[in-house]
Amino acid sequence: MSKTVAIVQARMGSKRLPGKVLAEIAGRLAIGHTLARARAATGIDALWLACSAAAADDPLADYVSGQEGVEIFRGDEEDVLARFAAVAEQSGADAVVRITGDCPMIDPEVIDLAIAKFQSGGADYVSNHLIRSYPDGLDVEVFSRAALDRAHAEARDPFLRQHVTPYIHGRLKDRLPWGKFSTDQIVNPIDFSHLRWTLDEPEDLAFLRRLLARLLADRSDGYHWMEAVAAMTAEPDLFWINRKHGLNEGSVRDLAKSKGVAAPRSFERSNQLFARAAEVVPLAAQTFSKSHQQWVRGASPLFLTAGKGCRVSDPDGNVYIDYLQGLMANVLGYGDPDVDAAIRNQIERGMSFSLATTLEADLAERMVADIPCAEMVRFAKNGSDATSAAIRLARATTGRDRVALCGYHGWHDWYIGTTSRDLGVPTAVRALSDVFPFNDADTLKALFERAPDAYAAVILEPAGVRAPEPGFLEAMRELASRHGAVLVFDEIVTGYRMHIGGAQAYYGVTPDLACFGKAMGNGMPIAAVVGRRELMTRMEDIFFSGTYAGEALSLAAAIATIDKIKREGVIDRLWRLGERLIADSNAVLAAHGLADQVSFSNAGWWPRLTIDQAPVETDLMVSLLRQEFVANGLLLASSYNLCLAHDSEPVVAETLAALARAAAAVRDHLDAADPAGRLRGERVQPTFAVR
Ligand SMILES: Cc1ncc(COP(=O)(O)O)c(C=O)c1O
Repeated sequence: MSKTVAIVQARMGSKRLPGKVLAEIAGRLAIGHTLARARAATGIDALWLACSAAAADDPLADYVSGQEGVEIFRGDEEDVLARFAAVAEQSGADAVVRITGDCPMIDPEVIDLAIAKFQSGGADYVSNHLIRSYPDGLDVEVFSRAALDRAHAEARDPFLRQHVTPYIHGRLKDRLPWGKFSTDQIVNPIDFSHLRWTLDEPEDLAFLRRLLARLLADRSDGYHWMEAVAAMTAEPDLFWINRKHGLNEGSVRDLAKSKGVAAPRSFERSNQLFARAAEVVPLAAQTFSKSHQQWVRGASPLFLTAGKGCRVSDPDGNVYIDYLQGLMANVLGYGDPDVDAAIRNQIERGMSFSLATTLEADLAERMVADIPCAEMVRFAKNGSDATSAAIRLARATTGRDRVALCGYHGWHDWYIGTTSRDLGVPTAVRALSDVFPFNDADTLKALFERAPDAYAAVILEPAGVRAPEPGFLEAMRELASRHGAVLVFDEIVTGYRMHIGGAQAYYGVTPDLACFGKAMGNGMPIAAVVGRRELMTRMEDIFFSGTYAGEALSLAAAIATIDKIKREGVIDRLWRLGERLIADSNAVLAAHGLADQVSFSNAGWWPRLTIDQAPVETDLMVSLLRQEFVANGLLLASSYNLCLAHDSEPVVAETLAALARAAAAVRDHLDAADPAGRLRGERVQPTFAVR
């Protein structure tokens, strides 16, 4: 019979909350809760507490020695891995369950699920937190004695020894050695990863006291963790008590301190998959900006497999902080719990209906309330459709054909015919569009002077990689009005990022029509044309109509996204985060000798990385930067595309530390005799700025 031993590791020392394990919570000490709940797991044969032999831990050992059914082991203060190995040896364990003392709400059923998975699946290691779906604070890991013994024998880095399992699960294998064990996990069908039930900070203690007082009002234990979820739903204020703290803060801080031995990332699977995909998918991607052309092929991921919050993983198991965020679509982050809940809820009701749904008015009313030019709204599936609908509407209402444009507007003929990728666009269509540069009202004026009554529309991105100069947007408004053209702001990028009412609200210049997309659905395919009633009612006359334009999941997602953006002050938070990242990143770049070469600028809502002076060809410089960003765990191209999940201290600290390592490597490459020889794959291809 195989023996499963649970080991609870705990200590009195804690920088942020000293003695937390002996803090009183709802009539019992924190560690008493942890041990009692662990003991209730039926799959456990023995329960041990592993603390240090230091005198500081005496009170903890004294308290636990009075508890029934728990054995105590005291060992090295820092080398927790050695403590685990010793307990496994003494107890004759075949399998070990690791529980940490900062989890007073640890759940017996969750422990048993992990044990069952371990026993049935044949993996060396099973946990519930590599992909998070359970609240932080219900963390459980189960691993084989053999894996533990080998980790104990092989792991050297102090971080690996202090945190016991990274050598076994390999989550940090890009930074620290890993024993290549097989891993598996239990995933809860509903994602509760946004809940923080761990005990690390004074606010956590306040939170746990309130929650457990409520749960244990009429019993001493025996609650199911879903009852705690229900209690939080009944008393939403609870959620805010410790909200400012992110997940796993302690371990991220320790990791930043650890020197680590960076193991090079492998991209083997990505490269294999690319060869396969390229046979059947032209470009091996659906978007230029997501394709291999943008990355150093051979030294970069070419596919992603999962995303959560601000992080993504690739087919080789590498994890990155993602600063592309689906090309600005994910304003809250991957798998935002509120948006996902709205989508799931809508899935239960239906997706593509045979008549309109009231979701359309629900979302339109929200947009009308916030966006200055919006009196009516129509929806679309992507930005290109929205801008093209606006142009058709402008042509229909003015009876004119020409379009004056500035910026990027999507893949349709009227716009893409003005770029160097105009293949397939009829000459007659190309001849109808004229481009004027951003911040250059004189060129637009000259266009109007040459053909005063010919322009149906002036369309531009009101802000983007640069801010408009004072008076520029006002000049656009004045020129369009004077010449009877419809002024369209393409707010596909600025929308729900610069201001809740778009750049038009931020700058106080109101267009006739505006297009929104990207951030409004947090990644779901949805866009919108909004504008003055008098123009928008002509939508009934032109042809703008699509099977999926009113698809319900995207509408539900957009409602949840916009509500959350407003509720959590997301736009202000991202502006502040961006401003901080610009300043701190520039300091990091300067500290590593790149001050004159590259810098972050623009504005907080969209920090842009520019090459100011490349000592090598620009495409080589871009390639070296992207290669080293990727090598150090940042999926970063030419901007920090921010999402709410980036707004956390550990993420910022990890970003700046990764940027520092990348900058040092790039400096080293530039100083080498042959910088091009430092490229570990193919150079990025200079396509024109496609998004
Ligand atoms: C300003 C702007 N307009 C329009 C579009 C086209 O949007 P979509 O790619 O969703 O068709 C984009 C896409 O990047 C954009 O950035």
